[in-house]
Amino acid sequence: MPNRNLLIVDDEQNIVKSLHRQLRKKEYNIFTAYSGKEGLDIIKQHDIGVVMSDQMMPEMSGIQFLEQVKKKKPDIIRLILTGYASIENTIDAINRSHIFGFLSKPWSFEGLNATLTRAFEHFDLLAENKRLHILTDQQNQQLKIINTNLDSLVKERTSQLEDAINEGIIVLALAAEAKDDDTGQHVNRIRRMSEDVCLRYGLPAAKAEEIGIASIMHDVGKIHVPDKILKKRGPLTEKEWRIMKYHTIAGEKILGTRPFYKTAREIARSHHERWDGAGYPDGLKGKKIPFAARIVSIADVYDALTHARVYKPAWPKEKAIAEIKTLSEKAFDPNLLELFLSIMEK
Ligand SMILES: [Fe+2]
Repeated sequence: MPNRNLLIVDDEQNIVKSLHRQLRKKEYNIFTAYSGKEGLDIIKQHDIGVVMSDQMMPEMSGIQFLEQVKKKKPDIIRLILTGYASIENTIDAINRSHIFGFLSKPWSFEGLNATLTRAFEHFDLLAENKRLHILTDQQNQQLKIINTNLDSLVKERTSQLEDAINEGIIVLALAAEAKDDDTGQHVNRIRRMSEDVCLRYGLPAAKAEEIGIASIMHDVGKIHVPDKILKKRGPLTEKEWRIMKYHTIAGEKILGTRPFYKTAREIARSHHERWDGAGYPDGLKGKKIPFAARIVSIADVYDALTHARVYKPAWPKEKAIAEIKTLSEKAFDPNLLELFLSIMEK
C-alpha cells in the first residue's frame, strides 16, 4: 500500500476544516495541526508522506516549519499554502527551502487535487528510487560475496586438478624410475637438491618448489627404454645408446603441451645437455640450455655417482665431488655447480 498520509498545518481552524471537507472523499489519511510545533510532533510519531503548511502562522512561519521538516524527515514532500498577495515575497523562501510546490489562497478544488496528486506521485517516485538503491546495494553486496566464494572455489579446484595431474605424472615418473633404481629414492633426492640450489640461487620458494616437482619427472621417458638396455652391465651398442638417449625426447612428449608442464618438459628434454655443447639430444651450449635442466643435470650426475646401480658400486661423497668439479665448464654451468658444491660440502 503506498503512503497516503497527508498532514495539513494551519493556525486558522476554518481553513483546516475546509481542506478536510474537500478531501474527505479522497484516498488520503488526513492529519491536522494548528501550529508548526504541533506539526513537528505529528511527523515524529507518524509516517507522513506529504505536508501542506500555511505560510502565515504566529511563532513559526510555514517556511521555518518546512525547513525543520526537511531537516528531520527529508523524504517528506513539502507544500506551502500562501495568500495570493504574498506569493512574490515568499517565492525566494520557497526556492531556498526546496519546497515541492505551493497553493495560493483561495485555491480551486482542481488546483488542490492536482497539487496533492503530483506531490504524492513524487513521494512514490522517491520512495521507489530509494528502494531500488537499497536493493541494488544489497545485490552488489551479495554479488561481491558470491564472487569471492567463486574465486576461492576456482582456485581450490584448479589446485586440486593440478595436484591430480601432478600425481598421475609422478606415478609414471616413479614407474620409470623403478626400472633402474629399485628404491625409488633417486627422484626424491634430485628434487631436494634441485630445490636447494634454486633457493641458494635466490629464487622465490614457490619457483624453487615448482622446479623441484618438475625435476621428479626428468627421466619419465625411460618408461620407453627396455629393461635389457637400462640394466645392461656392459657398454651399450650404438643402437642401444640411440634408444637410451631417446628417453629425453620421449619424456618431453609424455609431458604433453600444457603450460603447467613447461619446466618439466624443459628438464626432461635437456637434462643430458652439456655446458660445452657435447650433450644430447640437441647439443645445446651454455645458457642456451634451460636453467632448470642445468641444475637437474648436476644433481642427476652427482646422485648417480654416489649411489649404487646394477653396473657400478656407490662412490664416496668426496670422490664424487672431486669428479664433478673436473666437469665444471665441460658438463656443467660453473656458477650453478659452485652453488651446488657449496651446499654439498657444508
Ligand atoms: Fe636421464
